[in-house]
Formats: sequence, structure tokens, C-alpha cells
Amino acid sequence: MKGIILAGGKGTRLYPMTKVVSKQLLPIYDKPLIYYPLSVLMLAGIREVLVISTPDDIGMYQRLLGSGERLGMRFSYKVQPKPRGLAEAFILGEEFIAGDSVCLILGDNVFFGQSLTRLLQQAMENKTGATIFGYPVKDAREFGVVEFDENYNVVSIEEKPEKPKSNFAVPGLYFYDSRVVEIAKSVKPSARGELEITAVNNAYLEKGELKVTLMGRGMAWLDTGTPGNMLKAAEFVEAVQDRQGFYVSCIEEIAWRRGFIDSAQLEEIGNELKMTDYGKYLLTIARETK
Ligand code: G1P
Repeated sequence: MKGIILAGGKGTRLYPMTKVVSKQLLPIYDKPLIYYPLSVLMLAGIREVLVISTPDDIGMYQRLLGSGERLGMRFSYKVQPKPRGLAEAFILGEEFIAGDSVCLILGDNVFFGQSLTRLLQQAMENKTGATIFGYPVKDAREFGVVEFDENYNVVSIEEKPEKPKSNFAVPGLYFYDSRVVEIAKSVKPSARGELEITAVNNAYLEKGELKVTLMGRGMAWLDTGTPGNMLKAAEFVEAVQDRQGFYVSCIEEIAWRRGFIDSAQLEEIGNELKMTDYGKYLLTIARETK
């Protein structure tokens, strides 16, 4: 399975912070926002990742993440010339996907929870169709929203409905089989001129091949859309890390625990960052036995 991180958009709700810096490069506590979705793909065991961003910003992602070799990963990069919607990721990524299945994660989505790895594994095991998630939120109007019938069968997914038919929002984490490329090509732009991911999900639903897995309340899916929400997300990460001594979404640690890199490689990265707590953390775990 391949992974795609979509890190486009203008981030207008975060101006002036995002006037010259791409939203997904801004920090959530001690690491760039994009590390959090990247860590989700790595936890799923995905090692080939395409990063899609704007013509202005793609170079910065390349500088930040490089070829991926140091993490035992392979990163590629692609420009999205205009913000034509999330589903365009599959058209832009057609060559990269190369007939494989694919997981798309939005570059500003932060997940944390004990059940995450299990949910990811289940989604990876589902070889045909699509797997998306439903997450309870107080106000679902800003999201894709799942509509259920009385037996909790999914009836539709609605994009940003004024009157949501449930409080289950669809997070920006989607698993698809290889047909997603053709499906994305057949989607018509919405009223806001975008190829909506919700249209792709509804196409799978019509085929009877959309699985919606509900995430429980023990899972954190954090919003990073406004300055206040970014601060809350940072405080959440800080609180967990400070209490446990384990880092949240530390991509170098995940690469090591998953066996993508060995202890010597982790130590090398830790040494380069050893003036920071982040580097010291890497050095401490590199000397641990797994
Ligand atoms: C997008 C999707 C929406 C989804 C959300 C999750 O919205 O269109 O269905 O619920 O991401 O973050 P956006 O925030 O890009 O407008």
C-alpha cells in the first residue's frame, strides 16, 4: 500500500501565520504539524509516501523530509498547481500509486490513541473497496458527515451540511483500493469548484464497498484549523509527553520501533539533534533494547 499526504491549501484561517509559511509546517508543540499525519502512515507500516503541496511550498517539504532514506522510507513529491480538491490527489498521484492500494491522510490531521494501530491494521486488511472513519464531534458542520439509518447502516456522506444528520464527522484519513484513481477522474467538481473526497466516498458507497469504522471516545482526533485549536493540540501533546516520557508522533522513533532503521541509524539522527530534548530522547531510546 502507498501513502499520500496532502499538504496544500492556503491556510487562510491561520493568517498571518500562514502568509509565508505552509500550515502543515507550523509547529504543534515540538514538531512540524506534518510529522503527525506522517507518523500515522508509518504506524500503518506504509513506507512509500507521496507528499503533495502547492508550487510555492513543495520545496520546503522536500527540505524538511528529504528522500526518506534516513527513516527507511521513500518520499516523493508532487505539486498541486491549484487547490482543486482532495480527490485530485489520486489523479496527481496516479503514477506513484501505480495500481496499488492507497491511504490518503490530510497534512493537518492529528490522531492519538491506543486503538489507532489496530484500526489502521484492520483498514489495511480490507483489500477491496474503501475504509473511512467516523468520529464523534460536538459540531459536525465543518466536515464530511456520516448519515446512518436506524440500524447504523451508512446511508450517505454529506460534505459540510448545514444540518448534520449525525455527529459523526469523517476524519482526513482514507483507505482505498486501486480503483480510486478512476473514480476520482469521474468525479464532477462541487459548487465550490473542488473534487470532493466525499464524492469519492459516495461512489464507493453506491457500489456497496464503503466501510465506515467508528472511532471511540478514547481516540483523539485533534482540530488544528484555528490558532486556538493549534494551541490546544500543542498543549495536549505536551501534557502526554511530559507525563509519560514518551513522544507523540516521533517519526524517528516509529521508524526504529518498526524496524525500518536500526539503533545505530537512530543514534546518528539523535546526535545531530542532541542539543534539543528531541535529540536527547532519540539517544535515550536508541540505547534501549526494544
Ligand atoms: C476535508 C474534507 C472533509 C473532512 C475534513 C477532515 O475538509 O472535505 O470531508 O471531514 O477534511 O479534516 P476541509 O477541512 O479540507 O475543508
